[in-house]
Amino acid sequence: MEEPRGRSAAADPMVSFRNVTKSYAAGNPAVDNLTLDLDRGAITVFVGPSGCGKTTSLRMINRMVEPTSGTVLVDGKDIAGQAPAKLRRSMGYVLQSAGLLPHRTVLDNIATVPRLNGASKRETRVRAQELLETVGLPAALGSRYPSQLSGGQQQRVGVARALAADPPILLMDEPFSAVDPVVRAELQQELLRLQQQLAKTIVFVTHDIDEATLLGDKVAVFATGGRLAQYAPPEELLRAPVDDFVAGFVGRDRGFRSLSFREAGELPLHSAATATLATLGDAPGGVWLLIVDDGGAPAGWLPPGERSPDRLLVGGSLFTLGSSLRQALDATLSSPSGRGVAVDGQGRVAGLVDAEDVLKRLEAGRSG
Ligand SMILES: Nc1ncnc2c1ncn2[C@@H]1O[C@H](COP(=O)(O)OP(=O)(O)OP(=O)(O)O)[C@@H](O)[C@H]1O
Ligand SMILES: [Mg+2]
Repeated sequence: MEEPRGRSAAADPMVSFRNVTKSYAAGNPAVDNLTLDLDRGAITVFVGPSGCGKTTSLRMINRMVEPTSGTVLVDGKDIAGQAPAKLRRSMGYVLQSAGLLPHRTVLDNIATVPRLNGASKRETRVRAQELLETVGLPAALGSRYPSQLSGGQQQRVGVARALAADPPILLMDEPFSAVDPVVRAELQQELLRLQQQLAKTIVFVTHDIDEATLLGDKVAVFATGGRLAQYAPPEELLRAPVDDFVAGFVGRDRGFRSLSFREAGELPLHSAATATLATLGDAPGGVWLLIVDDGGAPAGWLPPGERSPDRLLVGGSLFTLGSSLRQALDATLSSPSGRGVAVDGQGRVAGLVDAEDVLKRLEAGRSG
């Protein structure tokens, strides 16, 4: 969908912090002179070490915390003049512990805010039932109580509840940090899928730089003392951290991580010696031989000098043309021959990729 003129995300942020400082007591501020625009319909992640002001910043968006100085604008309007209760109900809020009411059923938990907004009981039940499905939960769970759900299910209900009033803004404070890594990965994918459909303005707080770069359209890195250290799209953050603090925080393997974001477009393709099992007899002997099936898809490798089908080495990941540098590197590192197999969209062998070429691309990206 095309954006109307003059309403581009950059020109028309959903949330703006203007020189916002929050001091709880004299001395070090919790948030120090924050100026930041959050794009409409995008996921912005606040990341940083403990105590650096992420939660405080998030809560200033719905007036759960009042700034000491500066202005917070939502949809272009200063929120200082808006009724806090109404403002809060116009935003979904998801917490680390799902924060569900223990003596209410799942459906009633989801319906809480719409009920407060005056929707009828019937209306909100139907909507709550739909939302269960939206967040990937079976309808049968609706009549259970929160303690009868797993941690991951509870978080999903928390997300459903936050979505219930269909708010344009979703505030999420470490929503996935209390669940195990497998469930967490599921919830992250689920959120990305949901966001494709819903296009909310999401502010997501985490300690975890991997989660931040996975989910964020843009990532704000906070440093101790409530200072905003860098605000950039994930790949830029990983490729070009502005200072030692950010570089340390995103980690030493950042170059490797940043590969996942970069298309391997112009990577040189080397030609492969290929044969089918039927044409094996005619193949050259002294080279790594890539065996393909009748459709041209890779079947495995035969080492130089080995031409017996039962010596076929199978496995190794493939690199699909147009995908990321990370996938290209994985393909080269996992290939028995030392060169990764590139395939086209139909899965047919398109050529070989070389680890040296991938590393060169990586180096070029770092200095550039
Ligand atoms: N109600 C409060 N009263 C006094 N100090 C507070 C209060 N809330 C937060 N702080 C202080 O403000 C600073 C920022 O806290 P905040 O909760 O925003 O950090 P955070 O980045 O969310 O940390 P974490 O990652 O541990 O959740 C901390 O030094 C904290 O101790
Ligand atoms: Mg916090």
